[in-house]
Order: sequence, then structure tokens, then C-alpha cells
Amino acid sequence: MAESPITTHDPKSDASGPVQPSPQQQKQMEQNYAQMKRKMSMQEIGRKIKHKIMVLSGKGGVGKSTVSTGLALSLAQQGHKVGILDIDITGPNIPKMMGLDNHRLHVEEGRIHPAKGHLGVKVISMAFLLDDADTPVVWRGPIKLGAIQQFIGDVEWGELDYLIIDFPPGTSDEPLTVSQSLPDIDGMVIVTTPQAVALLDSRKSITFAGSLKVPVIGVIENMSGYTINGVTAANSSVEIAGPGGKKIKSTSDENGNFSVTLDIFKQGGGKSTAEDFGVPFLGALPFDPGFVRGGDDGVHRIISDPEGASSVAFAEVVKAVQAQISSETSSSSLEII
Ligand SMILES: Nc1ncnc2c1ncn2[C@@H]1O[C@H](COP(=O)(O)OP(=O)(O)OP(=O)(O)O)[C@@H](O)[C@H]1O
Ligand SMILES: [Mg+2]
Repeated sequence: MAESPITTHDPKSDASGPVQPSPQQQKQMEQNYAQMKRKMSMQEIGRKIKHKIMVLSGKGGVGKSTVSTGLALSLAQQGHKVGILDIDITGPNIPKMMGLDNHRLHVEEGRIHPAKGHLGVKVISMAFLLDDADTPVVWRGPIKLGAIQQFIGDVEWGELDYLIIDFPPGTSDEPLTVSQSLPDIDGMVIVTTPQAVALLDSRKSITFAGSLKVPVIGVIENMSGYTINGVTAANSSVEIAGPGGKKIKSTSDENGNFSVTLDIFKQGGGKSTAEDFGVPFLGALPFDPGFVRGGDDGVHRIISDPEGASSVAFAEVVKAVQAQISSETSSSSLEII
């Protein structure tokens, strides 16, 4: 078994000893050997990570990376061991959001070691390979897929309770490669915003999950309503001019506090889409400029304001995700014929 995997024997040869392969054969065999080793490593990694959650959306910019980092940090706050795998190799944003944008890839004895962000969350991102964040990386198909497999098979995650996998938008090669490479994926969380164009794309994502045979954990509606709080006279009516001049009414309480929610991108579409497809609705996250600041500063909202309304909403969503995972997500898997 200790013999080199690249020695071969030519049955047509009358020489009894092994025949050296051609350089081409040798290269092919080395590649096969590396592939086989990587496959075994992926199986091993699959066993060491209890839960694997894919975060996808049909449309770009709806908040996948914000949700991925939020899920990871929220789970870490509960005391779990968590990792984030940033599969968005053309536009990797997770390191910036986790305050790790100056980190470079750390390789030791052929294994890639993740960076550690807030609350000990481990992060692997293609951004760690880039010398210059402003230079776009153009990946051709097979190279991209090879890089993704390497990022799954060659990373030393150690034991993890949860691995959150953040994807680029759309239904492309990346989720397919990951779902074929990593065993026992719990399922897919689909992020949408409530406006019709995003919902249309998220419907495609749900169908896509079915074609990958990956269970749908559920749908999260992000940027769902922007709440303004104010103070006025006690028990009085308040009227605010919302988007498009629409009047929104509220009443202050006995202390004069009031709040008004503006439906910037409408509301409720995520829930109705989930209902249409018979998949769970995991909850809504408010529109909150604090998410933008947090993403830019590398300190997520749920770290900087753990008691705030957005953090509370996040905690509810995380609870719903955990409930779905523990109640056999396979029941919500869609089979596309
Ligand atoms: N609930 C929210 N309220 C306000 N801003 C938000 C919210 N969620 C995300 N954002 C902001 O929207 C922008 C896009 O978010 P994010 O990068 O998480 O989206 P994405 O779906 O990962 O994008 P991409 O498709 O490019 O990967 C960011 O600036 C982020 O801070
Ligand atoms: Mg993103």
C-alpha cells in the first residue's frame, strides 16, 4: 500500500517489471490520486461538521452575506463552533463583513487553515487569495469548480457544529459543485427581499433546490419594513408621509413613544412565496441602516447592538432555522420531475 500510486504495468510488455508511464499518463494519474484524496477528505470533513447550511438567493444584493454572517455569529453567541465558507469567488464579501479584510490565506503542510473572526467564527474566503481587492478575478468554468472543491476538501476546519456556506447570487455551478462535494448538507436557506422582482428570482431558487435534491430549510424575507421610532405628546395620533407620499398613521403610548414602519420594498412577499411552494417561512429581518454600517465596518449589527430590534429579529430567524434542521428538513425537500 506504501507503493507509489503512479507506477503502472503494461500487460502487453514482455518485460516482467513495472513500466514507467508516459508523462501524460503520469499527470493524469497524479490528478486522479489528488482527486481521490480530496474526495476522502471531503467525506471526513462532512463527518466532522454536524450541520451544513447553504445560503442562496436568486437575485443579487438581497442580503445573503449579511444573513450568512448574522446566522454564524448568532449561532456562535449560543456557544456553538461555527465556520463560514465564502463561495462567492468573484465577489467575496465575508472577510470585510467579519473584520478580516487584511487576512491572507494560511497554508500549513498542504492544508488551508481558516481565519478566526468575531466570537471565534472560522472563515474561509477566496478574498484571502487576492492581493488587490479592486482587481476582478476571471475564473473559467473548470478552474472555478476545482478551486471550490479545493476550498472544501483542503480546509482544516476541525470539529464544527455549523458551517454556513455563502453563495454568489443565482442558480449557477457553485451550489451544484458544493452539493455534490459535501455530504449530508442540511439544506438551503433562501434569502429574498419583498419586492416582486426579487420574489420571482427566489421562486427559481426554490425550484433549483429541488433539482439539486437539497432540502429547503426555508425562506427569509430581508429588508422587510423600516421602523422609525419617535416621541410626541402622550396618547396622540401621528401621521408620517411614507414613500410616494403615502400617509402612515400611528398612535403614541402613555409616554409619548410611537413607531411607524415604512414598507420600503413592500412586505409579506417572502412569506407568501414560502407558502406557495409549501416550504417553511423562517421570518423577516427589518431594513436597518445599521446592517450597512456593520458590513462596512466589519462589526455585524448583532455584535454592536445585541439587544436591538434587528438582533432580536435575527435571533427569531436562527431559532426557526434550528427548529427546521432538528425536525428533519427532508420533509420540505422538493422533488422536481
Ligand atoms: N436588512 C438590511 N437592512 C439594510 N441594509 C441591508 C440589510 N441587509 C443587507 N443590507 C445591505 O445591503 C447590501 C447588500 O447586502 P449583502 O452583501 O449581504 O447582499 P448579498 O445578497 O450577499 O449580495 P451579493 O449578491 O452581491 O452577494 C449591503 O450593503 C448590506 O449591508
Ligand atoms: Mg454576498
